[in-house]
Amino acid sequence: MKLRGAAVIITGASSGIGAATAVRFAREGARLALCARRFDRLQQVAERCRAVGATEVVLRKADVGRPSDARAFVNVALQHFERIDVLVNNAGRGWRGPLQQMPQEEVTELVSSNLLGCIWTIQAALPIMFETRSGVIINVASVVGFRAAPYSAVYSASKHALAGLGHALRGELSGSGVKVCTVYPGTTDTEFFGDHKPDGPLVQSADSVAKSIVRNARRPRRDVIMLPYRAGHLAEPLLGGLLDHALGEMRRNHHPEYRV
Ligand SMILES: NC(=O)c1ccc[n+]([C@@H]2O[C@H](COP(=O)([O-])OP(=O)(O)OC[C@H]3O[C@@H](n4cnc5c(N)ncnc54)[C@H](OP(=O)(O)O)[C@@H]3O)[C@@H](O)[C@H]2O)c1
Repeated sequence: MKLRGAAVIITGASSGIGAATAVRFAREGARLALCARRFDRLQQVAERCRAVGATEVVLRKADVGRPSDARAFVNVALQHFERIDVLVNNAGRGWRGPLQQMPQEEVTELVSSNLLGCIWTIQAALPIMFETRSGVIINVASVVGFRAAPYSAVYSASKHALAGLGHALRGELSGSGVKVCTVYPGTTDTEFFGDHKPDGPLVQSADSVAKSIVRNARRPRRDVIMLPYRAGHLAEPLLGGLLDHALGEMRRNHHPEYRV
């Protein structure tokens, strides 16, 4: 896909991977629609996008966990662009701790943001994608969407659900011209961890994940694991089981892009 002039919409673009992805698409000359709940932060990201060449950046304050917000975001993008070439479902939050200590409202918000938000946005975007018989949907899962991590039960479950959503949708959309790609980043240095800045050889930058997302918009793959290149020699002993599982999964899905 040519990205110059493409209509790209990104959820959760006010920081981290979403913001870095917006800037990467802006550099390619794409037209952008971005949403998140913090509008001031979205405006800062829009400035960065314009500084690297974006011609059109449409912003919408939205909580994607609310179906009406997700629909309104997609509709605003359509009013401007009349099509959607790339939808990046990136909005998400985490929570760490024993399951029995996770507050009920946190469970609801996490599942709403990470899973339901993705579903609402896809439902809103599919009619125009069917009409144009084109478009790429990229859902941002996580490596814990392959192998669940203890003390991240609900987060892991939400990301497993995204993996399942991607696999099911691919079947449903086969022949429609619409592609679905699920990306599984490893630990990425963003605001996701709050005050606990992640470090170590397995930590990657938001920009490296963004670069891979843009590459997959151009040439969509199916399941894409994203780990830092420099961690290649550590990945096997540290993540052995996870990687075996991931590689098997990707072999079954035919178009592997495995990057360590
Ligand atoms: N960092 C990692 O190690 C890592 C690894 C694997 C996968 N991921 C995934 O990558 C995605 C981006 O996370 P990040 O690391 O870039 O963290 P981040 O910097 O905290 O960014 C999260 C983004 O999602 C937005 N968001 C959260 N809930 C939302 C909602 N209900 N409606 C709209 N926007 C919402 C936030 O914006 P507002 O707060 O302004 O709404 C923010 O823009 C998430 O799906 C996360 O699960 C992260």
